[in-house]
Parts: sequence; structure tokens; C-alpha cells
Amino acid sequence: MLKKTILAATVALTAGAVWAEPQAEVLHWWTSGGEAKSVAVLMEEFAGRGGTWTDMPVAGGGGDAAMTALRARVLSGNAPTAVQLKGPAIQEWYEEGVLANINAVGVEQNWDELLPTAIADHMKCDGEYCAAPVNVHRVNWMWGNAQVLADAGLEMPTTWAEFNAAAEKLQGMGITPLAHGGQAWQDATMFESIAVGLGGAEFFQAAFVDLDEATLTSDTMVAVFDQLRTLRGFVDDDFSGRDWNLATAMVMNGEAAFQIMGDWAKGEFMAAGLEPGKDFLCAPTPGGGYLYNVDSFAMFSVEGDDKIAGQNLLAELIMGENFQEVFNLNKGSIPARLDVALDSFDYCARRSGYDMDVASGNGSLMPSYAHGMALRGAQAGAITDTVTAFFNSDMSSADAVAALATAVKNSM
Ligand code: BGC
Repeated sequence: MLKKTILAATVALTAGAVWAEPQAEVLHWWTSGGEAKSVAVLMEEFAGRGGTWTDMPVAGGGGDAAMTALRARVLSGNAPTAVQLKGPAIQEWYEEGVLANINAVGVEQNWDELLPTAIADHMKCDGEYCAAPVNVHRVNWMWGNAQVLADAGLEMPTTWAEFNAAAEKLQGMGITPLAHGGQAWQDATMFESIAVGLGGAEFFQAAFVDLDEATLTSDTMVAVFDQLRTLRGFVDDDFSGRDWNLATAMVMNGEAAFQIMGDWAKGEFMAAGLEPGKDFLCAPTPGGGYLYNVDSFAMFSVEGDDKIAGQNLLAELIMGENFQEVFNLNKGSIPARLDVALDSFDYCARRSGYDMDVASGNGSLMPSYAHGMALRGAQAGAITDTVTAFFNSDMSSADAVAALATAVKNSM
């Protein structure tokens, strides 16, 4: 009798697990050509395993609009199943008590062995996995139109002085040197790329991770704002509010020579059928350094076996070898998993992988502040507000560093 009951319970449990059809409502901001093509890989794999995906895309590069939508959903007690979320924001949501635990999948798939420790740490809440990483984007990249540069007799610049000289030459030829979209996060992307190049990793860490006041107001920071002011002179008149992918399109069609943007821009070039090294060129922004930006999905506490099955399936697929390769070939990034070879990737991705290895070896791998990897929302927002105010006014660099220090202090 007892045996029979146990048997029945086992059957019921197994059946329960099998019968829960995976469901997921997924909030993300991947709406550009390259981004949509990339997230489609996950949707297809999810459907292929019997899952039902309810898409909740919130357009807006950098994810600001998506994060506003997320807050509204959580406050109304109706969190999505899975959310594109990254860096310290994962911890902020965990502290609100609204994240689900996917540690069982992480342990079963041995994520600790498959991921660099720094990435694994971002994905853990109190030591247990609560998010799954899809990639590593490098933020400090520069993209160039190969034909435009060849016609002007230019190569990809390796110093900011070279960049400025090239831009002046292009301007003289009637070509917009720099395609830019005037949105706060895009201004911040350029700003931090200049900062790591001009100041180096230690400066970057002191300023944008440790928020050291002396560094925020240093001469080096003044020089960073000076270079941002110079870049402001290289953008066209219609830059205000332009989406980043439209800026990428300006480089594609030869309207502009360069764009400073993370390697999601490569996803756009590729989705348009263009080839790296032939149609467009990539190079780290002058001065180098490596600013990383890891996209990941955090799971929110939801009720229902079908949704929990959906979360576990998503976690499993996201860290799958095939997904990490195919998704990243489309997205412009490189896999988060250490064991996925880059043989099928182009030279920009291989350069990214190589530079990341070198940077993590010598302690110069830095988290992007502009893309939510280094700081909590309030502090990152304070810096970005100052940068944008500077970019859109004639504020001096001296005033900018003073404003920066005050804004950071007030945000704590
Ligand atoms: C994300 C990328 C995304 C880009 C533009 C970044 O913050 O990490 O995945 O493509 O914003 O939307």
C-alpha cells in the first residue's frame, strides 16, 4: 500500500513537471534590425522546446525606457517572467525581494566552470544564480565606413589627436565625421570611451567605480570633457534625439565616416549584409582599454508551474553552447561562455576576445558605467545627466568636473 502511494506520488510529480508547458513573457529592448535578429534565436529555441514566448519589447537603445516599463509592471504586482537586466541593477531588484532563483539550472549546467568569475558574480544574488548571461559586448569601439576613409586617404585613428585630425580633414571634404545620436546614454557611451582611452584603467576605476572625488575633478577628467567638446564639433546638425541605429545607418551609407558605439553596432552592419574589413572597419576607440557590458536575463518571482518551467528553460537555453554562438554572431558581441570558440567569428569579435583576455590578465578589464555595469542607477544617472548637460550647452570643462563631483555627491 505504502509502495503504491509512493509510486503514485512519483508519477504525479514527474507528470506535473512534464505537463507544465513552459511559458515566458520576456521584457527586452532589442528592437533594431541586428537586435531583433539576435533575440529571434532565443525565441526559436524556446518554441522548439515547446515553450510559448510572449514578447514584450520596449524600444529605446540602452534600455532606459525598458527599465521604466519594468518598474511600472513590478509596482503593479505583475512582473514579467524574464527581463533583460544587467550589472548592479540585478542586485537592486534582488534587494526589493522580487527576483526568482535559477540556481538549480546553474549548478546542473556547471555555470561556475563555464563563466569568468567576474561575470558569474554579476549573475548571483547572495551566492546563487538569479540571472543568466548571453554575451560580452565591448563598449569602446569605433566603426568606420571603409570606402569613405579610403577615399579620404585615412586609416582608423589610434590616438585622439589622430582622430581629431582625420575628422577635420573629412569635414573639409563635406563629410560628417561622426555619426551620433543625441540621447543621454549615447553621450555617456562616447564619454566613457574617451575616459578609458585618455585616462587608462586605473583612472577609470577610480572615477566610475570608486567615485573618487579627486579623480572626478582631476586634470585628466578636464581633458576628457575637452575631447568630448571637440567631438561635439564633429557631429551633424540633426543629431539631437537620433536613435543609435540610425547613426549606424549614416556610416553604412557613407553619410558619415565614424561612429563611436558598442559592438551591437556591428550587429546592424551585419544585418544589412555588410562585411567587416571590407565595407566597414572596427577599431577600439583611441587609447584602448576594455569596457565590458554583459547582457543578461534575470527571472522575476512569478506564480505557476508553467512560468517557472519557462524560466528554467530560458536559463538552460541562454547558457547553451549553440545559443551562445549563434546569438552572438548576430548580436556583434562574443559569448559569455569561455568554452565557445571564436573560429566562426569575424576579426572584430576575435579582437574583442583577445583584448578581453589580455585586459583580464593585467587587471584592466573595466565595467561600463554607461551601460549599467559599474554603478547603481542613481550614481550612473548623476554622471550621465552632467555629461549630457555639458554636451548640449557651452559649459566649460572646468565647470563640468565641478558639476560632476556635486552630482555624484548628491546621488549618494
Ligand atoms: C545593450 C545592448 C543593446 C544596446 C542598444 C546596450 O545597453 O547592452 O544589448 O544592443 O544597449 O540598445
